[in-house]
Amino acid sequence: MDLLSHDILIIGGGLAGLRAALEAKKAGMDVAVLSKVHPLRSHSVAAQGGINAALDNVSAPVHDTWQNHAFDTIKGSDYLADQDAVEVMCREGIERVVEMERWGTLFSRTEDGKIAQRPFGGAGFPRTCYAADRTGHNFLHVLYEQAMGFNIPVYEEWYALSLVVEDGRCLGIIAFHLFDGRMIPIRAKATILSTGGYGRIYLRSTNAIINTGRGCYLAYQAGVPLEDMEFVQFHPTSLYGTNILITEGARGEGGYLINSLGERFMEHYAPKLMELGPRDIVARAIQTEINEGRGFENEYVHLDLRHLGKEKIMDRLPGIRQITIDFAGIDPISKPIPIQPAQHYSMGGIPVNIDGETPFKGLYAAGECSCVSVHGANRLGGNSLLETLVFGARAGKKAAINAKKEEEMKETFSFQHQCDLFQSSLNKILERKGEESCFRLRDEMKALMMDQVGIFRKESDLIAAKEKIKELKDRFKHIGLKRKELAFNNELIQYFELEGMLDLAETIVEGALARKESRGSHYRGDFPERDDEHWLLHTLAHKIPEGTKLEYKEVTITNYPPKARTY
Ligand code: FUM
Repeated sequence: MDLLSHDILIIGGGLAGLRAALEAKKAGMDVAVLSKVHPLRSHSVAAQGGINAALDNVSAPVHDTWQNHAFDTIKGSDYLADQDAVEVMCREGIERVVEMERWGTLFSRTEDGKIAQRPFGGAGFPRTCYAADRTGHNFLHVLYEQAMGFNIPVYEEWYALSLVVEDGRCLGIIAFHLFDGRMIPIRAKATILSTGGYGRIYLRSTNAIINTGRGCYLAYQAGVPLEDMEFVQFHPTSLYGTNILITEGARGEGGYLINSLGERFMEHYAPKLMELGPRDIVARAIQTEINEGRGFENEYVHLDLRHLGKEKIMDRLPGIRQITIDFAGIDPISKPIPIQPAQHYSMGGIPVNIDGETPFKGLYAAGECSCVSVHGANRLGGNSLLETLVFGARAGKKAAINAKKEEEMKETFSFQHQCDLFQSSLNKILERKGEESCFRLRDEMKALMMDQVGIFRKESDLIAAKEKIKELKDRFKHIGLKRKELAFNNELIQYFELEGMLDLAETIVEGALARKESRGSHYRGDFPERDDEHWLLHTLAHKIPEGTKLEYKEVTITNYPPKARTY
């Protein structure tokens, strides 16, 4: 058996993973990154509108501070965020953004040459730093260059099959080389999961197809509970037809949302902030307009940018102009953009402390796959890139400190044993002559989650969804794969992805069914109010043989007691 070893192994090559890798490498560790795609194809590359930090570069009636940023974030989270973690993010975020500038990010600039900042949803200040509408693209290239500069090896197009855990301690992973189908164990003193979100469980999503929640599933399968999985964010503006993201920056620059009656309808939902209300409120408003017959073709409303003028659109929003021309045949300089809400972000994930440590020794997580929790029940736009940099760096640093204290890695029976188990189950999967199709089940799951566990939820739908997930899990056992070769067998990889997604979907449904209140992105028509007395709690979903078991834990409150949330 080939056995690879590194001090620190990072699963996922997006912003959180690369930032963690850099920090651990600078601490003198032997670090490697493993990713199922080339790192520059990680979903971070698709982030458009920007990153929040209280740089205070734009003149406003009062100065911005990291404490203001923390307040906006906590209010935006509908008070479910852990406030100690939010304070760390907003304080340290300033340094992380300046560091990205020094490493070469091509930020847009103010007249006097500072990093430009635009207004974003739910924020009291123009706080979102941006590189036109390609901020994630800029960041990912900058961090990848840094990683290459430090000669950090990348196992690219390798897939993580499972974690190897012995007595509550993570020892590394079993990996699958997509190129030739070899199964290879990789030992590590510290394993950091930074695999992104689980958006592709939903039919309409702005996420890349790689966003299947693999890291969450690996941790869950190994025995780590998942936190707050029922909180799934719908971005208000995805392009009708393809659901490609149309950045919140378009509204930050002054874009209007218009219904089929020609009204700027946000005045009925968030009269002060209008189009720049937080995402949960704006997404629900748009969907309400569509459901009540004030949309177009019962499917979308308009995002109108025409009044911004050609120059501003070309300067600040060139990417979305190109996207709408290429994918909808519409030039936003002369026509409004048809948009509808689509799944965008996973607030839930692997529970970690502010140093990225999970409940298992030797296992860390950062970025969207983790739940630290800085976003609570609803993330503010611009806080996702920030989370990747702040908590990616912290996880890398802590993993390095702890790994240095570890003794040399010993040979262990677990790797061989787990490889043998996987090999025999792989043989069975390939030999099975089942009638079910992996792709059909996946599509049924996505439609179910969209229709019954989406923006608006209610008990009868959630009970039906729970039953349907059980049925899909049962039918999963009867999948027969058509391709039997191991090299580049996409059907086999989709099979593994679906197995994980069904489990994650179950945690979302169970969490949503149990939570009898409305908070942030979780809206129950049958319980339309927030209920702090009973539900100011994080959900923890544990994997058990029958499905999932829920537990709850306290939310950390520091300086911001829960209040009514109006905009
Ligand atoms: O709308 C956007 O540009 C998305 C930003 C974010 O999700 O933070």
